[in-house]
Amino acid sequence: MEISFTAPYPVATGAWVVGALEDAVLTPAAAKADKASGGAIKRALSVSRFTGKKGQMLELLAPSGVAASRILLMGLGKASEFNGNAAEVTAADAFGRVSRTGETAITFEIDLPKGAKMKPAELAAHLAMGAQLKSYSFNRYRTKDLADHETKLKKVAIATADAAGAKKAWPTLEALAGGMFLARDLVNEPPNILSPAEFANRAKQLAKLGVAVEVLGEAQMKKLGMGALLGVGQGSERESQLVVMRWNGGRKKDAPVAFVGKGVCFDSGGLSLKPGAGMIGMKGDMGGAAAVAGVIRTLAARKARVNAVGVIGLVENMPDGKAQRPDDVVTSMSGQTIEVLNTDAEGRLVLADALTYTQRNFKPAFVIDLATLTGAIMVALGSEHAGLFSNDDKLARRIHDAGQSVGEPVWRLPLGPGYDKMIKSKIADMKNITGSTHAGSIAAAQFLQRFIDKGQAWAHLDIAGTAWQDGEQKSLIPSWGVGWGVRLLDRLVAEHYEG
Ligand code: BES
Ligand code: MN
Ligand code: ZN
Repeated sequence: MEISFTAPYPVATGAWVVGALEDAVLTPAAAKADKASGGAIKRALSVSRFTGKKGQMLELLAPSGVAASRILLMGLGKASEFNGNAAEVTAADAFGRVSRTGETAITFEIDLPKGAKMKPAELAAHLAMGAQLKSYSFNRYRTKDLADHETKLKKVAIATADAAGAKKAWPTLEALAGGMFLARDLVNEPPNILSPAEFANRAKQLAKLGVAVEVLGEAQMKKLGMGALLGVGQGSERESQLVVMRWNGGRKKDAPVAFVGKGVCFDSGGLSLKPGAGMIGMKGDMGGAAAVAGVIRTLAARKARVNAVGVIGLVENMPDGKAQRPDDVVTSMSGQTIEVLNTDAEGRLVLADALTYTQRNFKPAFVIDLATLTGAIMVALGSEHAGLFSNDDKLARRIHDAGQSVGEPVWRLPLGPGYDKMIKSKIADMKNITGSTHAGSIAAAQFLQRFIDKGQAWAHLDIAGTAWQDGEQKSLIPSWGVGWGVRLLDRLVAEHYEG
């Protein structure tokens, strides 16, 4: 896609997108379009139900007097409430509508009245972001009907009173979109293609952006004593991998921030096999790892002034003759032993060793892990919030607020000794399930906490309900894979850990 920012009031070609506030008050650009078209917008308004409410659209085809193929009037709602997210959703909805017509060019000329919260440059950059996010598609495996799936809408112009400012603001958002797209691609990829080794290859591509990428295979992990992670992968033909991605944009002496991701490239359940229907979608069980790769990509692409490390444990959970058994006891890198009573509770085993590795090697300022860890988190929160668990109130608050402001909300759930008791084992240091269906997501988080060193600030995000979407698509997420978490973590870093 080609995105440009231009001075106000160019001659709009292609689709011309303008806005109206509540009570169908045309913004100056819309009034100009109305005039240029001989009053066509006002006439259309008088024969429609359009009131300028946010989300409304009114399309005028081939209006006379203007070069544009159509004028699309977007409802903006109240100017005082119009923010970055509203701009993105507005642009995405307009882009989607115009894209379906086969049009190749779109010009946004959305101006807010004086006194509106958003400054022109910020508004323009977020309009571009909305179009960009909506333009995502995953068509790698289609050989037919590509025209129906791939947009022809390639030229996006944003007319703004502050083109210079918008051009300055855009690269940061563009970097963010790049990380989100990487995460979406990884989640969307089918599991026969995206093996642990292939995921590692994709991560290695980040070297082009200045990321130091290291890949550990099974032999190296065995030497490190990663019996928990390796146990999960041992029933698969594919080799498990641990990938370490480092972006060093901060000062040498600064402790890095660390992100750890669950990367189960396919979760069959192992010998505790899932029922067939329960396996569908389990290609997305690497959504945590995808978010980690995505945020590292974003930080590198926008040259964030922070040291960040991303560690992802990549495995395939399969049942073959070598597979881990329910009843096995494995020894983790931390030295703690785990009785594996259900091979389908594998994510926590992978994370256990990835967490130990991360703390030992990097002494991070904080560790945040992301994982599609439990079906139970969907019972509690559905797909509206990810589950947040933390041993650090300040970190938890920051994550909560970052999520709120970027549209990736999280809801904190408790931890405590009473819950920790649920994972006591009869013969080992802990077991990997509780033997009850109660508090399943909390029990999983308690398990992870056993691998967090004293004094280490840590948070766990259970993204089983948010990493992919099976229902209706959202304006800014036109794909099964959401890329959830990239935007939240990028905002968290930008707000609190840069400089
Ligand atoms: N990857 C699943 C969790 C999951 C389920 C994510 C559905 C998204 C949708 C995880 O490995 C798993 O199987 N968890 C079990 C844990 C149980 C055996 C304690 C679960 O949630 O049923
Ligand atoms: Mn599982
Ligand atoms: Zn899993």
